[in-house]
Amino acid sequence: MQRIPHIPVLQEPIVEAFRDSEGYIVDATLGFGGHSQALLEANPKIKIIGIDRDREAIAFAKERLAPFQGRVEILRGTFATQLPKLLETYPIAGVLADIGVSSLQLDKRERGFSFESDLLDMRMDQEAPLSAYEVVNHYDLARLQEVLRRYGEVRGAERIARAIIAHRPIASAKELANLIARLLPKKGKIHPATTIFQAIRIEVNRELEELEGLLKALEEHRPPGAKVAIITFHSLEDRIVKETFRRWARNCICPPETFRCQCQKNHALGTIITKRPIVASSSEVAHNPRSRSAKLRLFQFKETNGTRAR
Ligand SMILES: C[S@@+](CC[C@H](N)C(=O)[O-])C[C@H]1O[C@@H](n2cnc3c(N)ncnc32)[C@H](O)[C@@H]1O
Repeated sequence: MQRIPHIPVLQEPIVEAFRDSEGYIVDATLGFGGHSQALLEANPKIKIIGIDRDREAIAFAKERLAPFQGRVEILRGTFATQLPKLLETYPIAGVLADIGVSSLQLDKRERGFSFESDLLDMRMDQEAPLSAYEVVNHYDLARLQEVLRRYGEVRGAERIARAIIAHRPIASAKELANLIARLLPKKGKIHPATTIFQAIRIEVNRELEELEGLLKALEEHRPPGAKVAIITFHSLEDRIVKETFRRWARNCICPPETFRCQCQKNHALGTIITKRPIVASSSEVAHNPRSRSAKLRLFQFKETNGTRAR
């Protein structure tokens, strides 16, 4: 097998979260199979259904997980499309999503995510129709500005969007990064184009819509007793997960203006396991700097229909 191109983050708490599970765990972001391998080794009672939209990741994970024959099924596609079908078909005992890009996607220049890349691509699925080139070179001012503002929380989004448009065509990530570096001051070690690249990447891969789709599918199906573990890497995603878990855990669903509760206060779908997100220890960050911004939140659905999935 080739060198493993990605170090799984927060592996220990993920293994702990599913240590007592039995049955099917969906690894919605299979990547290079690091989390899945650790789960399969730690718990012989589980099977993994892995999803990824990146062919390169799937090929690697297939080889890596081959020793667990009969306990692994791998699907290519987006989790927002695949998960609803799985929830209808299998008694799912858990769902793991380690949202975001893999180190290989970030580091490999041909994928067009890194500041040094000669391409402008950023697609997790290399067959998807929208690439960073389209966003940077073809979006109109209003749309480009909105992407930067909403997904990068970029201050002065209009000025930057105008500068991008004035410099079209922009052929590579390198060219874009250099343009931004001339416009924005450097903050410490962080490249000034970081949030702009993040915004474009989120738009290209519809990352927030995907996360919302995954949560919607879980809310609709409420797999009894299932644990949900979601690792996020930036505040936009973490906020969506935090607020959704809070809403799911709420017993009272009366509108805020209601004087006295009329809903019988029994509407919680389950329990939040992590009151605060689990973050990487200082030794994990030293070993894998990308774990610095990772946040893990856990939720467990109620075992309402008596079929116990632990
Ligand atoms: C951070 S990596 C996961 C690494 C994995 N946990 C491991 O240990 O190797 C994220 C992976 O999720 C995939 N991914 C991200 N969003 C996705 C989506 N909406 N649908 C399917 N795969 C997605 C990416 O292609 C990438 O391979």
